[in-house]
Amino acid sequence: MPVGVGLVGAGNISTQYLTHLGTYPDLRVVALGDLDEARAAGQAKAFGVPDAGGPDAVLDHPDVDLVVNLTIPAAHAEVSTRAVRAGKHVWSEKPLGLDRASARSLLDEAAARGLQVGCAPDTVLGPGLQAALRSLADGTVGRPLAGLAIMQNPGPDAWHPSPEFFFSAGGGPVLDMGPYYLTALVLAFGPVTSVVATGGRARDLRTVMAGPRAGADFPVTVPTTANVLLRHASGPSSVALFSFDSGLARTGVLEFQGASGTIVAPDPNRFGGTVTTHVGGTVADEVEVSDAGTGRGIGVVDMVRSLAAGAPPRASGELAYHVLDIMFAITESIDSGAPVEVTSVPPIPEPLPSGWSPLVAQP
Ligand SMILES: NC(=O)c1ccc[n+]([C@@H]2O[C@H](COP(=O)([O-])OP(=O)(O)OC[C@H]3O[C@@H](n4cnc5c(N)ncnc54)[C@H](O)[C@@H]3O)[C@@H](O)[C@H]2O)c1
Repeated sequence: MPVGVGLVGAGNISTQYLTHLGTYPDLRVVALGDLDEARAAGQAKAFGVPDAGGPDAVLDHPDVDLVVNLTIPAAHAEVSTRAVRAGKHVWSEKPLGLDRASARSLLDEAAARGLQVGCAPDTVLGPGLQAALRSLADGTVGRPLAGLAIMQNPGPDAWHPSPEFFFSAGGGPVLDMGPYYLTALVLAFGPVTSVVATGGRARDLRTVMAGPRAGADFPVTVPTTANVLLRHASGPSSVALFSFDSGLARTGVLEFQGASGTIVAPDPNRFGGTVTTHVGGTVADEVEVSDAGTGRGIGVVDMVRSLAAGAPPRASGELAYHVLDIMFAITESIDSGAPVEVTSVPPIPEPLPSGWSPLVAQP
């Protein structure tokens, strides 16, 4: 029987989830809730979801086994905890929470109740990045040595009509974009044990540049450029740059360097892309990996299948907690000027097998 899924949060990203979840046969979306009940009803009608209402229309629904939390970051931990208390497994959009304590207590409460928590990004389960991770794990470029990630652009105030949240606590390029790049680096090289970072911000005030409020100034309270060095427990190190201050828009740079070659992986914020292997300064192999049939929601499919197998989801809450721990360590290291230890140790899942598809129901 398909697993019953309910969505809480019917905003922008819900359209992507509803579009994809509707094509995955292992599950069925049965309810949709939002503080804005009219918004929930509108999305439910557009996507043929039988029940809609406030958040409780999902949390109290007898046919919902798994809640997909698509609310705003400030509500993630609270809504996920309420879902766990209602006896539901949870898939959360990123970040898992806005502080270590609430995220940890969510995971501990779920574990005590025998429930699983999974967390975005599920782009890292996309066929593109998974092909790059399989290649690294298969030893194509020899012993893993170093990772590189770059995400730099002029900042979302250039296009977003209400960009303030990107530049205050819980935002910034590290918290907003870090989950994609850092999760990919952790999946490639394993858990991180320490972080050293420097950074700052180009301006204390920024200006809304798009939409009806264009011209309004607002304060910046978080670092908007971070240079990061990560030490992985297994020996390799990674370098990452996250910036909303750059005149150069260059995103999606992700490389896995081994002792005998370098894999250029696809953008970890995309599901497909090109995997290029360089050896001796030349391209040894290049594979274009299609994202057909995948999209936001494949992590929920993996979670449903993992539940059936009695295993944690690949994009697990513990993995997301570790990435949250790294992101806070980056901010703390920028503030203190000293290295910061990262003590959480998540399980690192095997890459998905080649040919894994969310479209073919698991027997
Ligand atoms: N929009 C994107 O492109 C994008 C991409 C990747 C990830 N995300 C993540 O998805 C999440 C949602 O983003 P969005 O762009 O859809 O935001 P949004 O603001 O468009 O929608 C959020 C919705 O959640 C509802 N909500 C807020 N608090 C709630 C609560 N306590 N209970 C029930 N409903 C509540 C709001 O009413 C709103 O409808 C965020 O965590 C974001 O980081 C968004």
